Amino acid sequence: MAGSSGACAWRVLPAACNAKHTKTVIVPSQSGTLKLQPAQEGKPAEEHYRYAHLLPHFSQDRYPPLTPYEHVDPGFRALKHPNPRAFLDNATSVVELTPNLGTEVHGLNLAEFNNDQRDELALEVARRGLMVFRDQQDFIDRGPEFYREWGSYFGRLHIHPTSGHPQNYPEIHLVYRDANTSFNFEINDSITSTVWHSDVSYELQPPGLTTFFLLAQPTTGGDTLFTSQVSTLKKLSPQFVAFLRTLKAVHSGVEQADFSRSGKRGGVVRRDPVENIHPVVRRHPVTGEEALYVNRQFTRRIVGLKREESETLLTFLYSHIDKAGDLQARVKWTPNTVVLWDNRVTAHSAIVDYGESKERRHGARITPQGERPIPALDGLDLSN
Ligand SMILES: [Fe+2]
Repeated sequence: MAGSSGACAWRVLPAACNAKHTKTVIVPSQSGTLKLQPAQEGKPAEEHYRYAHLLPHFSQDRYPPLTPYEHVDPGFRALKHPNPRAFLDNATSVVELTPNLGTEVHGLNLAEFNNDQRDELALEVARRGLMVFRDQQDFIDRGPEFYREWGSYFGRLHIHPTSGHPQNYPEIHLVYRDANTSFNFEINDSITSTVWHSDVSYELQPPGLTTFFLLAQPTTGGDTLFTSQVSTLKKLSPQFVAFLRTLKAVHSGVEQADFSRSGKRGGVVRRDPVENIHPVVRRHPVTGEEALYVNRQFTRRIVGLKREESETLLTFLYSHIDKAGDLQARVKWTPNTVVLWDNRVTAHSAIVDYGESKERRHGARITPQGERPIPALDGLDLSN
């Protein structure tokens, strides 16, 4: 288990053992892929890393701009099921993490879900914002072809413009940190690693149902924070929400691209960064719930407001999101955990508190795109 220190056999390393294997040296190869360092004379052979085939690769490929596509949310189909929560019937444990978001499930194997169960899963994640499935080694070990098939069921897979991916699988977004390297978007000159965001909200059609899991994790630390943007909106007064519904904001991928262009995170920008305008309050296409849709990482300004008005309003909203501990959940990544969240109605932040341990943290995200955000205010013009 993650806390053990026993030696593991070559090539049969249980996934749960990876947390302690911190001596492995990984170096960039000329092709842009991380590789295990070969054993050197007089030094012990490096231990084999079970998920070495999923280490980040930074190809120099160039991608054209994304094109619009019609997203049909699988959750709609589940609304017609006699019991849209039937997929939970065989779970051994279903526990709500908080009243506002998050459900933790034991006893189900996501990898074996049929289409009806996948539809119900999409609807339930939309309703709860966040679902945490434990004991998913089968899912994790099925590998990148399966990850692609899984994600494609829920929408067109987003290919990240700057992140590392397993070689030949650009649709799988990787986060990676070990004793020697970090390929994450991490700001080092801040007093906190907390940066609330909704993934790639700068895209015209940002992600919807998102799947994330760790292939290796530190013994402790590296948790992830989540918050319900439905709940943060509900905390505000009706008059203020009515005003927010009339607003739209610019979301930008420029800073993230510049981070890579400066040589960090693999140093590649495969698709030119984009900026898009989204409603400040969006409506979920299936549940109809309204959610606040601004985030500190990617939202830049409110369209039509004076600079000071925009900055003051966004600062207030970010502060509200930051401080609302009563609306948040925190996921601890015990081995073989798979988490799904609805990126349209939640925000999240990494917690980088494990750097001192030098332990490896290696995660994979499967990121289907959703619809263009629907304004809560009917008829809101998003053209400029
Ligand atoms: Fe994220």
